Amino acid sequence: MKTYKIGIIGCGRIGSLLEEDPLRGKPCTHSGGFSALSNVKLTAGCDIDETRLKKFGKQWNIKNLYTDYHEMLSENELDVLCIATWTNQHASMALDGIRAGVKGIFCEKPIDVDLKLARKLVQTCERKNIPLLINHERRWDAYYQRAHKLIQAGKIGKIKTIIGNTLSWKPSALPVSEYGGGPLFHDGTHLIDLFLYFGGPIEWVSGNETRPKGIQYIEEMACAMIGFKSGAMGFIEGGGARNYFNFELDIQGSEGRILIGNSGRQLFVTRKSKRFKGFQELEEIAFPEPKRYETPFIGGARNMIKSIQNGKPDSSSGKDALKALEIIYTIYKSAQQNGKRLKAK
Ligand SMILES: NC(=O)c1ccc[n+]([C@@H]2O[C@H](COP(=O)([O-])OP(=O)(O)OC[C@H]3O[C@@H](n4cnc5c(N)ncnc54)[C@H](O)[C@@H]3O)[C@@H](O)[C@H]2O)c1
Repeated sequence: MKTYKIGIIGCGRIGSLLEEDPLRGKPCTHSGGFSALSNVKLTAGCDIDETRLKKFGKQWNIKNLYTDYHEMLSENELDVLCIATWTNQHASMALDGIRAGVKGIFCEKPIDVDLKLARKLVQTCERKNIPLLINHERRWDAYYQRAHKLIQAGKIGKIKTIIGNTLSWKPSALPVSEYGGGPLFHDGTHLIDLFLYFGGPIEWVSGNETRPKGIQYIEEMACAMIGFKSGAMGFIEGGGARNYFNFELDIQGSEGRILIGNSGRQLFVTRKSKRFKGFQELEEIAFPEPKRYETPFIGGARNMIKSIQNGKPDSSSGKDALKALEIIYTIYKSAQQNGKRLKAK
């Protein structure tokens, strides 16, 4: 059996450090996810922060440590390049990885800050048949996969509306040029990706935002009405300066409803009302729990290897993530034109 060699750029929180959080389900990092597979060897790591790099080397028993990722790429014949650095470096690092001959790229979300560079990366990967997967990790979460299966099987009928929110605290005044955006960009990318996963292609958006420091700084809150090609409607809300983090989707169909998010999952189906004669109402039934649950970091890592074996991305592709990025930027553009309805690319 072939052993796939993995190198990671970025030994920070999502690359490695979050394994220290006692509350998170494990593994919860890329190092942990790839290390959990028997046909994979975590071979090399790179970080410009030497303290983090040393800690990473010790934790995963890696000797090939670098502060310059170009060196890591030239000295190790990597099968997979995993990119867990800051968003404004994702696409350029991935393109360098392709030049160095990696067979697949597993990259953190959002795909990049720069739309043009993100498009170039997706086109390059397609042209060279290099699978590019972006870590919209709920795509590998068995609960979300189960919800998707229920929808595909018609359990809640035809989707009519999707309401989603990712609510969080007030962000600092960070520059758009470097960070891309605020809550709609960083956490909202997961939500938009799931809107596309559950609801299909998006036709138009109408945005609204609060950007207290001006358009060169990231938003505090952004929301949008969304029109799906299917005719279904959506509403998305990102941020909003709350004292808590919440992430959830309310998917309402002609025959039922699925609520799924950080607080759990619920399934409702249409039943004859016990309260009003001649009415139909929603009744909660058991959400069909998966028999086995493993964190999406294992699923994502396994999917990366499968994608290399098949020569194409299996799920959560760069192309999917590019669509999410295009929609986020169209929402901002619409908000800056007083909510003008704009066609999604
Ligand atoms: N999928 C998720 O749910 C999720 C969660 C957290 C973060 N993220 C994403 O992961 C990425 C990293 O976020 P984080 O919270 O881990 O940040 P972090 O700052 O903790 O880690 C990033 C690491 O990259 C290193 N780095 C920066 N530039 C580098 C370079 N040129 N070469 C080598 N190393 C370099 C930094 O020193 C740092 O240690 C971001 O794109 C973020 O959006 C995703």
